[in-house]
Amino acid sequence: MRPHSRVIVFALALVIAGCDSPQSYMGNTAGPAAQQLASLGWQALLAFGAATLITWGLILWVALRRRGTLAEHAPIDANHGQAWILIGGVAVPFVVLAVLFISMLDSLAAFPIHHSSEANQPDIRLTGQQWWFEAEYGAGPGSQVFVPTEIYIPVGRPIDIELQTRDVIHSFWIPKLHGKVDLVPGILNRIRIIASRPGTYEGQCAEYCGMQHALMRLRVIALPEQEYATWLAHQREPASEPTTDAARHGREVFMSAACPLCHTVRGTGAHGRLGPDLTHLASRNRIAGGAFRNDTANLQAWITHAQSMKPGSRMPNLTEFSGADLQALSAYLQSLR
Ligand code: CUA
Repeated sequence: MRPHSRVIVFALALVIAGCDSPQSYMGNTAGPAAQQLASLGWQALLAFGAATLITWGLILWVALRRRGTLAEHAPIDANHGQAWILIGGVAVPFVVLAVLFISMLDSLAAFPIHHSSEANQPDIRLTGQQWWFEAEYGAGPGSQVFVPTEIYIPVGRPIDIELQTRDVIHSFWIPKLHGKVDLVPGILNRIRIIASRPGTYEGQCAEYCGMQHALMRLRVIALPEQEYATWLAHQREPASEPTTDAARHGREVFMSAACPLCHTVRGTGAHGRLGPDLTHLASRNRIAGGAFRNDTANLQAWITHAQSMKPGSRMPNLTEFSGADLQALSAYLQSLR
């Protein structure tokens, strides 16, 4: 293989690999809305790719053709020049843009965004705030469930999600499932998503919303119907009682510190609503709006140095704990399965 063909093969491999990254909308989609957008994306890519190639071909042709003196050139044919401008500058772009415009309208119409009415309840209410998402599952047998950063849904069933914000504009975006939809103050947008196969679908806030916009992540976890029902039933239960001495002590530390002012642990005296609900914290994969893995080291670091990990977030640095108290506190939090 000649060196330059290797470069081309490598570049193509990168492009194709990029199509299957967890947050690419161009391939391996898992729902009808995303599928429609992917096909639209490919149409646009091919159309603009062809336009780019033709344009560069013409530029090269002009640049490389044999040059002569000015006198050798035939006088410029005005009609000929005008035809080039009319065809290349007006007719071709008009046709290309019209075709793309119509297919975009088609995609928009296929997956409408509704403004909510009170008539029927959404399956999930998603609230954006600086800088995390919170999914709310309405009151069922048990109680209301609030889950930060992760949206669990059953596979194959259409799920209505109502999008709202507590402060500025954020945007819901799970590329493998649905296109971007904004969370706008004062407006309740409602969308419908369907996951066609089980899996974890990554996404993130897609509208700049302040300092930690980049660390405002979101993932959808699609489970088979039965597993989903089990998950939801478990989430509706109050927090489990701590079973070890360390966890019991950790609960005392939690209750006597500032934690309950902002966090809820259902079944205890902690009812704060400013920060994420911690009732089943240990059942979650990530903390801090999806920015960090949920493990002992990150939990302890987050409690004591949240402002270094995610500067500007509402979680303060809580540096008053002794080493033993901090150990106990994280043991308690990790017992909240
Ligand atoms: Cu929320 Cu960007």
